[in-house]
Amino acid sequence: MELTKQIEKGADILREGGVVALPTETVYGLGASAFNEKALARVFEIKRRPFFDPLILHISNIKWLDNLAADIPAAAKNLIEKIWPGPLTIVLPKKNCVPDIATSGLPGVALRMPSNETARALIELAGVPVAAPSANLFGSVSPTTAKHVEDQLGGSVDIIIDGGPCTVGIESTIISFMNAAPTLLRPGGTPLEEIESITGKVIIPAREDFVNHSPGRSEQHYATSAPLLLINSIDDIPSISVDKKVGLLSLEPIDKNLFLSNIDVIECLSENGDLREAACNLFAAMRRLDDCGADIIAALPVPNTGLGLAINDRLYRASRKNV
Ligand code: TXA
Ligand code: MG
Repeated sequence: MELTKQIEKGADILREGGVVALPTETVYGLGASAFNEKALARVFEIKRRPFFDPLILHISNIKWLDNLAADIPAAAKNLIEKIWPGPLTIVLPKKNCVPDIATSGLPGVALRMPSNETARALIELAGVPVAAPSANLFGSVSPTTAKHVEDQLGGSVDIIIDGGPCTVGIESTIISFMNAAPTLLRPGGTPLEEIESITGKVIIPAREDFVNHSPGRSEQHYATSAPLLLINSIDDIPSISVDKKVGLLSLEPIDKNLFLSNIDVIECLSENGDLREAACNLFAAMRRLDDCGADIIAALPVPNTGLGLAINDRLYRASRKNV
């Protein structure tokens, strides 16, 4: 079906209380009308997501901000002005019209205006904010193509709108304004450096505190089926690879023949070590390593700057399945 037809059909489904898989620039989302509690409950059910893990509300038009948020600090306004539409979610005190099921009973609501034009056209046509978590089963790798969604949730959603591969490829950065100072709840597609150049210093909770700020931030997430091990250098591989098929996830190309006979598959995230390109390729590469039957996925950390912070966060949390 032509994309405009898919958007029209998706908007009808949203208005009628159905569930729509939609492309965004970050990852595919599993969307429902933010004001339809039954539809929201179905989103949790399809994802097998616990009800304590709240949803992001996606808007297409800035006029929704005042309808959904009770208070918008100046720093949040600045961020919105400079970065929206884009891969940034902000948490603000919620207004009563936001159903508790969307925020898991929390006093804050997470809001995002995606830059993906298909997503914005769909939300605009539906005429309601669209609550959408990533369109994957709870705890697994996020989808960056319509096929990824189809493979995991194909039978249970009312339509999958195919907007092509996601261009950012890693979820939005989440900044909370529920405390005195802006607080990072999840590193993501907008670099922290860019945010801090607008708001000044952002508080970064210690890893073990994250989950208190953001209920969905359980340490273990983004799990591949094969165990993912974070290694410091390729020299660590011999000790883990006895009798195992090893897949290596690396930022830059590695010549397998020169160094190692005990690596079976290499996924390189970027030919020239570009962190944006690497973020864009990360989840699809993790899926490919899983699908090729690797017993172990060994992942090399990337520099912790720009989108590297979000990439390392996802790799770390994927590795927590095995502890
Ligand atoms: O890029 C993205 O943000 C994607 C696309 C689809 O927009 N969405 C996404 O949603 O990653 P999800 O549900 O997979 O992750 C959202 C995170 C969860 O960890 C959740 O706990 C947190 O946002 N969150 C949502 N609402 C919140 C709130 N009111 N207060 C604190 N954290 C919240
Ligand atoms: Mg998710």
